[in-house]
Amino acid sequence: MAELQPINFTRGVPANESFPIAELIDAATAAFQHHGVAMMQYGPALGFAPLREWIAQWQGVQPSQVLTGNGSLELIEFLCRMMIRPGDIVFTESPTYDRTITLLRRHHAHVVGVPLEPDGPNMTALETALRKQTPKFFYLIPDFQNPRLAETVHATHV
Ligand SMILES: Cc1ncc(COP(=O)(O)O)c(C=O)c1O
Repeated sequence: MAELQPINFTRGVPANESFPIAELIDAATAAFQHHGVAMMQYGPALGFAPLREWIAQWQGVQPSQVLTGNGSLELIEFLCRMMIRPGDIVFTESPTYDRTITLLRRHHAHVVGVPLEPDGPNMTALETALRKQTPKFFYLIPDFQNPRLAETVHATHV
């Protein structure tokens, strides 16, 4: 019988065995063969053009609407710089990822939490919040949400 592996729910760190190392080696090799110079050279700030074009086609949007970055927190920081002015309202699920709240507060956003239920945000609370105020955006964790993580914190509720 296979040995049972405990699942660590205390931190948002991926399981080592989930990393597709061999596939990434193949993908990196193919990418370097086709785009080696572009990958090594300085490039546009919005990201590697062929990747942005591929993502745009996949998502049915224009390449100019696609921004790539090094992880989600960098992109959330870019989004805040572009969209948030002091006092702007942003909705989040509550609880949500603490570092996103930290970034939002650093940009002096007013963070409003919509209580999270087993199937997502409470729709009645969301409607109530929308009647009171219009957020700049609503930060959601659409999959793999784990409210029991030590890193999740509650925003001020509606
Ligand atoms: C919900 C959530 N978003 C973002 C991150 C960090 O993502 P990244 O490493 O892509 O910046 C984490 C890390 O734990 C997370 O739990």
